[in-house]
Amino acid sequence: MKTVVTLPELRAARLELAAPVGLAPTMGYLHAGHLSLVRQARRECASVVVSIFVNPTQFGPHEDLGSYPRDLARDLDLLRREDADLVWTPTLEIVYPPDFQTWVTVGQVAQPLEGSMRPGHFRGVATVVAKLFNAVQPHRAYFGQKDAQQAAVIRQMVKDLNFNLELVVCPTQREPDGLALSSRNVYLNPEERRAATALWRALSAAQKAYQQGQSQAERLREAMRAVLQAEPLANVEYVSCAEPDTMQEIEGRLEGRQALLSMAVKIGKTRLIDNLLIGG
Ligand code: PAF
Repeated sequence: MKTVVTLPELRAARLELAAPVGLAPTMGYLHAGHLSLVRQARRECASVVVSIFVNPTQFGPHEDLGSYPRDLARDLDLLRREDADLVWTPTLEIVYPPDFQTWVTVGQVAQPLEGSMRPGHFRGVATVVAKLFNAVQPHRAYFGQKDAQQAAVIRQMVKDLNFNLELVVCPTQREPDGLALSSRNVYLNPEERRAATALWRALSAAQKAYQQGQSQAERLREAMRAVLQAEPLANVEYVSCAEPDTMQEIEGRLEGRQALLSMAVKIGKTRLIDNLLIGG
């Protein structure tokens, strides 16, 4: 496994890679969710590239950029074991030189939900992902379903900007009690960790209601809210039952359509998101 930092080093190493090349973009502090992206890329591509960069432009001014967990030595060790071919760990100055002034702003799909709770977040994500795609030139790029709106925003950007690559969205990895794996789970104390299962319990309750014949989107949102409101440590930012490609809320019945159930919930100071696709 080769590790590179600068753009010239990356470009030289990229020329040596056999096609197809798969890219798993990450912000490091890797967990089994990231490793599942790397593994799927390993299965489907001749070469696997992983980027590790904590992207400051996708964090709001009061978010956790300063405390975001980092452990590069451990990450590299894990990636070596997954047989990654190339790891790119650019510095801040490489991604955002002092005179940087070009941004990627995705429209409607980036506006509701995460977009409205975290202004500027998707501008930061789309910009850095566009830069990663341009630098690495992958044939396939691997993202997690856990960040469902991020995947929808990037899909729109890939289409609108004619990136010549296939987007692969991999299933969410969960703890045995259903908690979706996230680098931010390390912030939870034992009591909060127990409370954090409310997200998966809420999604499961709505899924069960749907399976039992409830197809009114608002009733499904209510089913999720009821579980979350019963958890004293949970502070709900949003609960949604939306159209998965556009992220627009569904009104009325699902009528056989696929729907994305999703939520953002603060457990103590830790903001968690989760989602589940139903129907279709
Ligand atoms: O999902 C993430 O870890 C980040 O948003 C990404 C895609 C690596 C961009 O910084």
